[in-house]
Amino acid sequence: MTEPTVLFRGTGVTRNFGRGKHLVEAVKKVNFSLGQGQITTVVGESGSGKSTLARMVLRLLPTTEGLLEFDGRDVTTITGPERAAYWRDVQAVFQDPFSSFNQFFTVRRLLSRSFRLIGSAAAGRDRMEEALGHVGLSGADVLDRFPHQLSGGQRQRVMIARALMMRPKLLVADEATSMLDASLRVNILNVLTDLRDELGMTILFITHDIGQACYIADQVLVMEQGEMVEQGAADQVIFDPQHEYTRRLLSDVPRLTDQSAG
Ligand SMILES: Nc1ncnc2c1ncn2[C@@H]1O[C@H](COP(=O)(O)OP(=O)(O)OP(=O)(O)O)[C@@H](O)[C@H]1O
Ligand SMILES: [Mg+2]
Repeated sequence: MTEPTVLFRGTGVTRNFGRGKHLVEAVKKVNFSLGQGQITTVVGESGSGKSTLARMVLRLLPTTEGLLEFDGRDVTTITGPERAAYWRDVQAVFQDPFSSFNQFFTVRRLLSRSFRLIGSAAAGRDRMEEALGHVGLSGADVLDRFPHQLSGGQRQRVMIARALMMRPKLLVADEATSMLDASLRVNILNVLTDLRDELGMTILFITHDIGQACYIADQVLVMEQGEMVEQGAADQVIFDPQHEYTRRLLSDVPRLTDQSAG
């Protein structure tokens, strides 16, 4: 297999919070790359630094140290219009889709807010239908509904559609399936693999659940207490883990269809 083109590269990426005896080294000199058209999963226990890493990739949180390169460009400290352009190329989906909704806005109104960035309302409407199609929803079914009229899985799919409307090159999903029950979770994981397979989307998928990591990842990055203790092709990490911490996570793989899981 030929190595995929690198879309995103992090070198020596570090983030500290606080100082002195309150210093928290949330992410410590982490090196990683995201292959174009691949799903890379970051897995690790709560507090291992996954979200901190994701927020740095998203440029929502400054790095303490290190280099972030996107599409061959240094994006570590870009600001203003450069960062605005970056935020079109790199979109995010978070854990709780409900909290991202205004309860009094229909899905149409929520999604229409991106029209301004897209350019025109007509282009926006096309993108909206296109994006809903990518997540297996039809406009007629969801556009005139309010958030409470959607299922949890539909809400999360709407949020993915909202991200897709910008036609991002990289989609970052931080615990995007954690609030869903097992069957809906598989459903969203399948939406993500379809995006990879059909659009060639590059996805950074964050989870504390190595079972989900195994299910969708091409590449797995394992974090423990801010350090990246293991990384490699998914098959290699899953079937031949090199690090004790990875083995421990794997020994506790929740079955994806198990209702009691994660
Ligand atoms: N804004 C902040 N201020 C201080 N400490 C922080 C801040 N954000 C994160 N941390 C600390 O950094 C460490 C990593 O947190 P992070 O949220 O990245 O973990 P995580 O792997 O995403 O965990 P989870 O699986 O629970 O989401 C933790 O010790 C956390 O308390
Ligand atoms: Mg987190």
